[in-house]
Amino acid sequence: MQIPANLAQTIVDSRAYAAGDPVDEAFRTIRAEMPLAVAEPEGMEPFWVVSRHADIMTVEKQPDIFHNGDKSTFLTLKEMEPMVRFITGGEPNLVRSLVSLDGQEHKDLRAVVFPSVTPKALRGLEDDIRKIAKTFVAEMLAKAPECDFATDVAFLYPLRVIMTVLGVPQEDEPFMLKLTQELFSSADPELNRDRKEVNPAEALDGLRRTMEDLEAYFGVMTEKFRANPTDQVNSLIANAKVNGEYLNRRQLMGYYIIAATAGHDTTSNTTAGAMWALAERPLLFEQLKADPGKVNAFVEESIRWVVPVKHFMRSATQDAEVSGQKIKAGDWMMLSYQSANRDEAVFDDPFDYRIDREPNRQIAFGYGAHVCLGQHLARMEMRILWEELFPHLKSIELAGTPQRTISNFVCGPKHVPIRFTLN
Ligand code: HEM
Repeated sequence: MQIPANLAQTIVDSRAYAAGDPVDEAFRTIRAEMPLAVAEPEGMEPFWVVSRHADIMTVEKQPDIFHNGDKSTFLTLKEMEPMVRFITGGEPNLVRSLVSLDGQEHKDLRAVVFPSVTPKALRGLEDDIRKIAKTFVAEMLAKAPECDFATDVAFLYPLRVIMTVLGVPQEDEPFMLKLTQELFSSADPELNRDRKEVNPAEALDGLRRTMEDLEAYFGVMTEKFRANPTDQVNSLIANAKVNGEYLNRRQLMGYYIIAATAGHDTTSNTTAGAMWALAERPLLFEQLKADPGKVNAFVEESIRWVVPVKHFMRSATQDAEVSGQKIKAGDWMMLSYQSANRDEAVFDDPFDYRIDREPNRQIAFGYGAHVCLGQHLARMEMRILWEELFPHLKSIELAGTPQRTISNFVCGPKHVPIRFTLN
């Protein structure tokens, strides 16, 4: 079955994601009438849209059949593919990171960082993260009665946390923020490399220049951590050996880049979106103030609500079947986490923000072999921020209209103006 052109266009349109509702409406129809069907938006290779929660799990449970790295791991224009392959020497993804690896290489590389991000290992970081949270809360309170919660808190706090975990010095944070935003926001003239509207070739060239800056920076860091190893994540990456060999240059760079980028933009977007939801729901805020034990449920629902990673792509290595639908070897597939987190078959009132979902089966961290490596860190740092902030606040409301980033990949609110009173 083919998805009608207008719906196919909407679910890839960065501006539709910035608007919010059009994408949710399109997926509502797709889930109901054509839950596993082909989209062929202008300028893109056709792909299956996997819109239901259950079907995404089915695909993600079979990583040997549905590969991450044979084609682009995220939506891209047909004309970009040969350019990317030219730049990388034949690979379909500019960055060779965990999300674009399969099989044994993926297992080996994932194992490098995995032990340091388990809930048990993270307990040792709780005090350091709380200190960081207190700093940002104090800065926000000093701005009373108004601030842009996205730019003043939500973008900066997760950045400081992840850079501390990775071992990047504080003075380099603005540089890392700029480069990671450029990497994810090439369609947004406010955040991309050239700070203007760009065509696809210019966007790719911007991404290439950003990558060069990142590689230069991380090259120096590798030398530093090999000379003086620490227990920070970038040192684990720099010193990791698989079959007796250090990771090669593309593996190293891909690892640093995914840890640095996936490690804060996602959490920043979720934190900003959570505050937006709260500022519009005074009763919810009362509930959270009255029962601080509900903060975990608030974090979980915020992740479902914002879905900062809108999709990842897979491709079939062989003919296969999902929910009775035949998929051919080589077919490209979009796993829409945005859609799955609004799936009526799994969530009551999916378009309502509710902290009483038990369990909350949100799938915004993905599932299976590639499930988000940073999920426990993300939950923990958001919980700590709210625990530190809520006791100081009496009321919160919007002080203007929030705005979302123009992107169809990793995105969320980029401005959340709020007015607040203190206890
Ligand atoms: C992978 C979402 C925070 C590091 C992923 C995936 C998603 C995701 C959807 C792909 C999963 C799949 O293919 O099944 C999120 C969300 C976050 C978040 C919603 C915050 C709310 C973080 C943080 C870190 C991180 C804080 C850093 C420590 C990674 C890495 C991968 C990944 C390294 C690749 C894993 C692999 O392919 O094996 N994340 N993420 N993420 N995430 Fe996160």
